[in-house]
Amino acid sequence: MNKITVLKATDITKKFPETVANEGINFSLHKGEIHALLGENGAGKTTFMNILYGIYMPTKGEILINDKPVRIKTPLDAINNGIGMIHQHFMLVEPLTVLENIVLGLKEQGIVVDRKAAKKKLKEIAELYSLEVNPDKKIWQLSVGEQQKVEIIKVLFRGANILILDEPTAVLRPQETEPLFDILRKMKKDGKAIIFITHKLDEVMAVSDKISILRKGRLVKTVDKEGVTKRQLAEMMVGRAVLFEFEKKEKKAKETLLSVENLDVYSTQQGVKVVEDVNFTVKKGEILGIAGISGNGQQAIVQTIAGLRRAVKGKIVFEGKNITNKSPRYIAQIGINYIPADRIGMGLASDLSCIDNAIMRNYYKKPISSSWIINYKKSEEHTRRIVDMFNIAVADIFAPIKLLSGGNMQKLLFARELFENPKLLIASYPTRGLDIASTEFVRKQMLKIRDEDMSVILISEDLDEILSISDRIAVVYKGKIMGIADAREIDKNTIGLMMAGTRLEDITL
Ligand SMILES: Nc1ncnc2c1ncn2[C@@H]1O[C@H](COP(=O)(O)OP(=O)(O)OP(=O)(O)O)[C@@H](O)[C@H]1O
Ligand SMILES: [Mg+2]
Repeated sequence: MNKITVLKATDITKKFPETVANEGINFSLHKGEIHALLGENGAGKTTFMNILYGIYMPTKGEILINDKPVRIKTPLDAINNGIGMIHQHFMLVEPLTVLENIVLGLKEQGIVVDRKAAKKKLKEIAELYSLEVNPDKKIWQLSVGEQQKVEIIKVLFRGANILILDEPTAVLRPQETEPLFDILRKMKKDGKAIIFITHKLDEVMAVSDKISILRKGRLVKTVDKEGVTKRQLAEMMVGRAVLFEFEKKEKKAKETLLSVENLDVYSTQQGVKVVEDVNFTVKKGEILGIAGISGNGQQAIVQTIAGLRRAVKGKIVFEGKNITNKSPRYIAQIGINYIPADRIGMGLASDLSCIDNAIMRNYYKKPISSSWIINYKKSEEHTRRIVDMFNIAVADIFAPIKLLSGGNMQKLLFARELFENPKLLIASYPTRGLDIASTEFVRKQMLKIRDEDMSVILISEDLDEILSISDRIAVVYKGKIMGIADAREIDKNTIGLMMAGTRLEDITL
């Protein structure tokens, strides 16, 4: 079959002052193709897509659309060339409705907006690709999965036949991934071409036709999905053989470090109970996994432990001391460190430098500061230690952290909290957006501190992750704990049933 090339990029090179993010990339995309783009954190995937979408101009290289050379200087140029992009972080306006978001900006593009016609067109697109959303709902009322649908509709509304999706599954619940793939398959059948970025090799195998691998800014290979294995892909990404397994040492449970008793927490806005009569303990040198579909109260539980939310009822005891409703600073000082789920905003200050972000937990302590004066040399050393140990791709630690790739920001956040030597580390989705090697590294770090008798609460939706590193697993559903089990005695099926609301004692094993 003769394939029609819709996009061709030749010799694309992008140099930033301190980094060569893309170098000599040659890439072709065909009609009716799902093309996965793989590569380690910082390999240059987002940069390359930003060039195709007109956010950056390449230092060198050429882009051809339907065999015609084009200059894409702005996203509007990209849209006019039929290219649409769904970013790693969504760009919707929260107080506006779905319809308003979709027609937003059309006027500037010289398109006259007729609301009724727009609504009709929106409905047609939504029906064609099973993208059901209510056009009159406000963005903030929608789940992340629904917001993603709005982004996709928006791109299709503007007539895109080339769609770029930058890590679309990183924000989705596991059960939302397959429906997204169905949408992609429908678009592909319709002759659209799709570039899809992910770190998950199972997803690549499930949905893509072609796979391109970036390593250190260069495109090392483009292969057909058929005939390639996950192991080979991992090797191409990293440049060497990759081990997928690690060992979890047998360990005896010790004394209790933290106990949560009869905890009730209410939501900040509507005053609804989001955590109800929750009880559990974390022992010294133990990893307690909390599994559950996101939005079932797991964040509220750990935020309350971290002092970021108020317990309305119940008690939190740490090392025998009642720490209920203490300040976040107090909680951090007694040795509980918290890695939030949303890295930008809660975890990191995007306009501050890597150094400022790295010392955010210890700037007031020795050796980073003495008598209230920050020691810049020590701050720098501290940051370099973090960067070296976690292999963080950063050209200039004095530059704003927002210039780092998504995965590298996540690594810095994790490392910062780990370097505090916490007695208890609370980690929400710590491997989200990380490449294979970094995921393994972060998991090993959690096992290492556990072996050194520190404790971890791990929140994750990735059941393989939860099962492979936790000692015990608690499952939450609608703010309640459905049961807590030894990780060696529970399987994915049982966890799945509990995540859907069945209590452990009602499941016959
Ligand atoms: N505006 C910028 N200024 C300076 N450096 C940048 C800029 N944008 C990206 N970089 C650097 O270019 C490199 C590639 O980053 P990019 O975001 O493309 O990686 P990525 O492959 O998308 O990684 P991830 O999987 O972590 O999202 C990184 O080292 C990053 O720090
Ligand atoms: Mg990226």
